[in-house]
Order: sequence, then C-alpha cells, then structure tokens
Amino acid sequence: MKAPRDFERVSLGIFPTPIQRLDNISALLNTNVFIKRDDLTGLGLGGNKVRKLEFLMADAKKRGARVVFTTGGAQSNHAMLTAAAARRLGMRPILILKKRGVTACRGNQLLERLMDTEVVFMDTDDYADIYAEMDRMGEALGEPYYKIPCGGSNALGTLGYVDCAREIADQGIRFSHILCAEGSGGTMAGLALGAKLFLPGVRVHGMMVDTDPFDEITPRLMREAAALLEADAAVSSDDFDLRDQCGPGYAIPSKEGREAVSLMARIEGLFLDPVYTGKAFAGLVAMAREGAFGPDENVLFVHTGGAGGLFAVE
Ligand SMILES: Cc1ncc(COP(=O)(O)O)c(C=O)c1O
Repeated sequence: MKAPRDFERVSLGIFPTPIQRLDNISALLNTNVFIKRDDLTGLGLGGNKVRKLEFLMADAKKRGARVVFTTGGAQSNHAMLTAAAARRLGMRPILILKKRGVTACRGNQLLERLMDTEVVFMDTDDYADIYAEMDRMGEALGEPYYKIPCGGSNALGTLGYVDCAREIADQGIRFSHILCAEGSGGTMAGLALGAKLFLPGVRVHGMMVDTDPFDEITPRLMREAAALLEADAAVSSDDFDLRDQCGPGYAIPSKEGREAVSLMARIEGLFLDPVYTGKAFAGLVAMAREGAFGPDENVLFVHTGGAGGLFAVE
C-alpha cells in the first residue's frame, strides 16, 4: 500500500493543524469535544480545501498547466482557495461558478476580486455544462489548462483527508467519533477511508449540508482513493454515518446552524460559518443531546473553515 505522502504534492498550507479541547462546549454537552483547526490551514482564510489542493495543484503543475479552472456556487470557499493556490504557484485561475447564491462583491467574491481572479457566472444547475464551458474556454485560450472538479472532490483530492486522518492518529488523542461537514464528499470520504487505515474503531460522521446522494458519493470516493493508494480496504456503507443537516437548502442558513454559529462564538470565541461548519456543528450538538456520546468519550469536530461565507450569507 502507498501512503498519501508518497504522492507528489505542493506545499501550500501549514500542517499539522492543532487539535484543541473545547472546555465550555464539553461542559455544556457533557462529553469531551475537541476541534481540529483546519480553519487554520494557512492559505487564504484557511479551510479544508488546502489539503486537497496540495495534491491537485501538484498534478496540475506536473501536467504543465498554465491555467486552472474550477467551479462551485457563487460563494464557493473551494473556488476562492483554488484561486489563491493558483496565484501562489504562478498559474492563472479562472472560476466558472453557478449563478446561485450571493454573487455580489462580498465574502469570497470580494477575496477573488482582491486576487484579480476571472470569475464567470453560468446560469445552470448542471455541472456538466460548466465542465464543457471550461473545455471551450481552455481550447480558445490555447494554453495548457487543468480542470479541478467542484469541491476538489475526486480521488486525488480525497487523499488530502486520508492524510488528515493519519495526522490525527499521529497527534495522539484517542477519539471515538469524528464529525465533519459534507458538501461535495471528499473531506468525509477521505476521513472515513483514513479512519479505516489509521484510526481503527473511530466512527466518522458526515453532516450533509447539501441534498446530493452522499450514500453513493462517499463510498465511491473512498473506493477510488483506496485504489490510488493500492490499499486493500473493503469499503462498505458500515464504514461511515450520514446525518441530514441541510435544513432549508444548500447555502441557505438553518435555524440550528445559526444557533451553532452563535453558540461557538459566544462561549468559545471561535467562528463557524452558516453554510458548512455551523450546520455541521449543529449536528454534533443534536447528537450529544440525543445521547450519542458518552461522558468519557472524545469527540472530534473537524473545523473545515468557510470564514468567507460569514461575510456574505445572512
Ligand atoms: C468550509 C467548508 N466546509 C466543508 C466543506 C465540505 O467539504 P467537501 O466538499 O469535501 O464535502 C466545504 C466544501 O466546499 C467547505 O467550503
């Protein structure tokens, strides 16, 4: 079996990210809640995508790409961080975003403007239209280009979170549960596969903040990443848990999510976001209240970033 560190990657972030105990949240929920600070990954405003981009941008570089395309919603954190990574590596970022959500010059749109990034909005609900437009634009530019899928969630990007599970194992605290937001699937799939390989006995829970079929997406990405690693891992739906935390819709704040953002700010002085981590943390609070975690168990919440959304989505 190969390890994620055997794959080429470019250094974009600062790792390992710290793990901290949330003393006030732990007292409130009568369990031991820890937070993995992947909001501090060190590029742009930080966030989970930096781990994926270290692998994806290495591949882009190896293939001689001068232009990097990616996509997402109007306030995609992934798109903003891809632009930041491309700028750092001297490549030209072009973002073709769905014309959905807040397109005004706020949040991630503002950050993209600061990086002088080309942003094209497409009025479509189908990513196939967007990938076709990337090819059309790329051919017209006549320069080598590289396409990163929505959320960086392909097998190579998923390796970023397999490696995060290895990092968590190396940090020495034994966890019973790991929770994260699930938006395009790579973070959760990487953690679930990584837990199988490096954290036996840990339950990984994906807090779904969109309505895609994650029961199919998660094991597919786990299998594809396992194949890249040549790992003998028989993936099944028993390897992870999913919980619907989407509320009124993707990128539309939920009442529980807003309460979670506010709780974390008020008693821990840390900021979640309304689109991903607030809804995901609301899932952790609900599970604790349902009795899912024992008083002596250690529960790890992976803070996947998303600060840009805090300044755009109301
Ligand atoms: C802040 C934040 N958290 C979590 C996620 C979800 O990660 P994934 O797309 O790998 O499921 C995203 C994805 O865009 C994100 O921006």
